[in-house]
Amino acid sequence: MLKIGIVLGSVRQGRNAEAVANWTLDFAKKRNDADVEYEIVDLANYNLPFLGAAVPEAQQAEAEKAIKGWSEKMASYDGYIFVAPEYNHAVGGALKNALDYLNPEVNNKAAGFVGYGSLGGVRAHENLRLILGELQVADVRTAVTFSLMTDFENMSVFKPADYHEANANEMLDQVIAWSRVLKTVR
Ligand SMILES: Cc1cc2nc3c(=O)[nH]c(=O)nc-3n(C[C@H](O)[C@H](O)[C@H](O)COP(=O)(O)O)c2cc1C
Repeated sequence: MLKIGIVLGSVRQGRNAEAVANWTLDFAKKRNDADVEYEIVDLANYNLPFLGAAVPEAQQAEAEKAIKGWSEKMASYDGYIFVAPEYNHAVGGALKNALDYLNPEVNNKAAGFVGYGSLGGVRAHENLRLILGELQVADVRTAVTFSLMTDFENMSVFKPADYHEANANEMLDQVIAWSRVLKTVR
């Protein structure tokens, strides 16, 4: 069984990430890929402190639990789909901070991107590729790029155009193939 985590990469209240991640999960599940399991992993469920920042004593146990839970969850997957919005031409700070906690947990695994923004989140994807390269995560070529202008109403109600499905299929095919092969490297 191949386990793919769909990482919900925004913790902003009222985030669009939730609708996009749910769409991604539904779309992936409908493919009925043999021996592949998809699951959303939501950054907002892990109240991660900034890496290395002092945590008040009363919150230390909770912070340690969050850090352990996040790294164990990410270690449990064979591949990832990052649902990543673009913030100032890069990935959001919450996702970057969360990735900074990881290294061996994600080494020699595969990743694909689903993004959204004025240009489909592509600059966040390119930024994420640099980060994942350092973490030895192999990111696939094809990405799904939703436009805040045309795939959302009022930039907040998700109404994706059908043509994205071709890219979503291609991206998932690539993530599955690479996730399978990289299992043999680990
Ligand atoms: C601080 C900030 C910076 C942003 N910078 C960009 C940007 O550089 N490019 C872009 O396409 N969208 C940008 N946006 C728009 C976000 O991509 C958009 O609000 C998106 O819905 C954020 O994802 P979320 O709703 O899941 O948090 C920015 C939004 C914020 C709040």
